[in-house]
Amino acid sequence: MSIPLHQLRAGVIGTGFIGPVHIEALKRLGVQVTAICGSTKSARACADKWGIREVYGDYDYRTMFRSPNVDVVHITSPNKVHVEQSLAALAAGKHVVCEKPLGMTAKETARVVAAVKRKGSPIFAVNYMCRFFPAVLQMRAMVQRGDLGRIMHVQGHFFQDWLLHATDYNWRLLASEGGKLRAVGDIGTHWIDAVSFILGARAEAVFAHLETFHKTRYRPRGEVQTFAKVDPKTMLPYKVDTEDFGSVLLKFGKAKHGFVNGTHANASISQVAAGWKCSLALGIYGTKGSVRWDLQQPNEILVGRRDEPNQILQRATAGFSEDVAGFTDYPGGHPEGFPDSHKMHYRAVYQHIASGRKTPVHFATAEDGHHEVKLCEAVLNSSRAKKWVTV
Ligand SMILES: NC(=O)c1ccc[n+]([C@@H]2O[C@H](COP(=O)([O-])OP(=O)(O)OC[C@H]3O[C@@H](n4cnc5c(N)ncnc54)[C@H](O)[C@@H]3O)[C@@H](O)[C@H]2O)c1
Repeated sequence: MSIPLHQLRAGVIGTGFIGPVHIEALKRLGVQVTAICGSTKSARACADKWGIREVYGDYDYRTMFRSPNVDVVHITSPNKVHVEQSLAALAAGKHVVCEKPLGMTAKETARVVAAVKRKGSPIFAVNYMCRFFPAVLQMRAMVQRGDLGRIMHVQGHFFQDWLLHATDYNWRLLASEGGKLRAVGDIGTHWIDAVSFILGARAEAVFAHLETFHKTRYRPRGEVQTFAKVDPKTMLPYKVDTEDFGSVLLKFGKAKHGFVNGTHANASISQVAAGWKCSLALGIYGTKGSVRWDLQQPNEILVGRRDEPNQILQRATAGFSEDVAGFTDYPGGHPEGFPDSHKMHYRAVYQHIASGRKTPVHFATAEDGHHEVKLCEAVLNSSRAKKWVTV
């Protein structure tokens, strides 16, 4: 039996850039956000802003997990605490939506996979929400129906420029805080996960080249929130141990639908690409046609044909198929974007919980999150060894 989503209650850990994105999306779905956890000051401020009743300061997530008023925990804290918080939430019987990456090393993320495999485990999702852009779901339906023929190759990039200057600082720049891979781990895995989802196959081997253009950067004395500005005069120099840029070749395995087998992909990943704010762009090239999409123009897909005119397909019009109808709320011409992809992702996860696990699992599982961390390790090994590495 299914229960209404407004009967499910969420607790959110982390009040920085992405925590409030989760809160806003949940509120738009009618889910109750009953608890918030963060630093004492920011958790209080966040609770006051959003009308959240239970406040857990001093990062005291363990007390939050004992609350009987939380069914689903959203982990939006920095990467290095994802695994310990995920394991504690599962042990407390809470369903989890964990931000990407699932953890810092494959050794630790394997522990989450093992915990989720236990009988009666709660539902676990990793926030690779790019899967829930209607355009991504549409491209997936086109690939899996064979509209593009056999898929030969995939090409694209994920470009941002918010870390272009040596004085741009965030905890992600430090391997000890974010993991050994930064650009590839932070945004490249969104690209790889979206492509894997569209193709219905996982990357099995990688060849990568990584570059750190700013070997020395400058940081403020304390921590700053993502995308926040700091006065450069107050900063201290430090050696950078994560990459600004990655060029990655991938070879994908066999998909059940039969249109993908050994497909090649190449992606450029950069957080220092001036002018690009958040461009996840990809092109999928098959024997009958191609599709192209960019997250910065999320409502349109370009379809390429050799012997017929090319087309622009628009979200929520005749160009998008029925498969995608459940993942869009507004009519064509009324754009949906980044916040809506979060909303559609959480709707899918909460509907799955509310239905007693009866809806299809389109969302990224702990296994998918673990695979992305294994991929990152393979990328790092390949870049060091200068050869193909199997994932
Ligand atoms: N899916 C996406 O599109 C997306 C976008 C941005 C960030 N993220 C992910 O979300 C996470 C947070 O990133 P952000 O950009 O919001 O960072 P941020 O620095 O802006 O915010 C992090 C928050 O976590 C809090 N925090 C720090 N240590 C904590 C602890 N031990 N327990 C609980 N809270 C703690 C901080 O006080 C801060 O409020 C990262 O894992 C990042 O990869 C995902």
